[in-house]
Amino acid sequence: MRVGLLTGGGDCPGLNAVIRAVVRKINNAGGSCVGFLEGWRGLVENNCRPLETLETDKIIGMGGTILGSSRTNPFKKGEKSEAVMKVVENFKKNELTALVALGGEDTLGVAHKLHHHYQLPVVGVPKTIDNDLNATDVTFGFDTALNIVMEAVDRLRTTADSHRRIIVVETMGRHAGWIACLSGMSVGADYILLPEITADLEHLCATLLKNKEQGKTHAIVIVSEGAKLPEVGMVTSMGEYDEFGHVRLGGIGDVVAKIIEQQTKIETRCVTLGHLQRGGAPSASDRVLATRYGIKAAELVIEGKWGHMAALRGGQITSVPLAEAVTALKRQDMRFYQEASEWFPGAYNPERVDAKPEA
Ligand code: F6P
Repeated sequence: MRVGLLTGGGDCPGLNAVIRAVVRKINNAGGSCVGFLEGWRGLVENNCRPLETLETDKIIGMGGTILGSSRTNPFKKGEKSEAVMKVVENFKKNELTALVALGGEDTLGVAHKLHHHYQLPVVGVPKTIDNDLNATDVTFGFDTALNIVMEAVDRLRTTADSHRRIIVVETMGRHAGWIACLSGMSVGADYILLPEITADLEHLCATLLKNKEQGKTHAIVIVSEGAKLPEVGMVTSMGEYDEFGHVRLGGIGDVVAKIIEQQTKIETRCVTLGHLQRGGAPSASDRVLATRYGIKAAELVIEGKWGHMAALRGGQITSVPLAEAVTALKRQDMRFYQEASEWFPGAYNPERVDAKPEA
């Protein structure tokens, strides 16, 4: 048994813990592992190296991925493109029994197509700090990202209070508000803006002014990078798209901070947390989840359950078809937002909820 592994898309804490677990379980079963470097690019270019238990045993607490990552999409030029043919050819050349792909909707979308169109024996592991992957309760990396935002905002709150300021904190979360909503709850945010709800800026400013009148000396506003402004929509870097067609986001925090300052006349600053949220060591919870996912992925390989992904459902590790994971995004559960908005009543307005994500 010879198993390939790759990590694709945005990196996140816990990738190395999954690699470690897959390698150990496959080695224990008498097989060997090989890692393809920088996502699907590694398989297109046949750039790989062996992965051994001794080397990988010590990486459970390391951030990033020892394999490197990229947003390479072999299907960018179609199902029969040269890149896809290279993947299939290199799969055979390396005499792989299976490939374990660690990624979010894009990476696992490629894995699903390879299985569906070419019957390649692939298994998926659900990764993304955004927690927007369908068919699993939670992706690894999400908990660590929440903790990073929480720690940053706890620090920002003290300086906001000293200066009687409002601080707008922009978090990641392209299509789903999980990071903004749950980190916002964890810091007691005064307002939260999500991709799923078109922002009501008048309500936001009125809430902040009301809080001030009632004696509150500062405010924290959490804004997801994918939040939508009325008429404008998402704030993007014009013309910058990745190979999967996603536009680059970022900058909405600054826009919202300026509007708040203009409307409320309260001094306002913006902090964009950006890639800090993806860096560094995984939390204890993510190390455990990543290890459990890795063991399950290796079991799926041993059982020959191709085209499936390790998943968490109701606290139990299980598996689901990749097709189920990649056909829709798991957007923010509005029950969390309703609970969070006890501190900014009226923000949850079902008429402003937008179920469909933009590109
Ligand atoms: O992986 C998801 C994500 O972190 C999104 O939240 C964000 O929009 C995007 O990746 C950023 O990607 P990049 O690292 O390519 O700038």
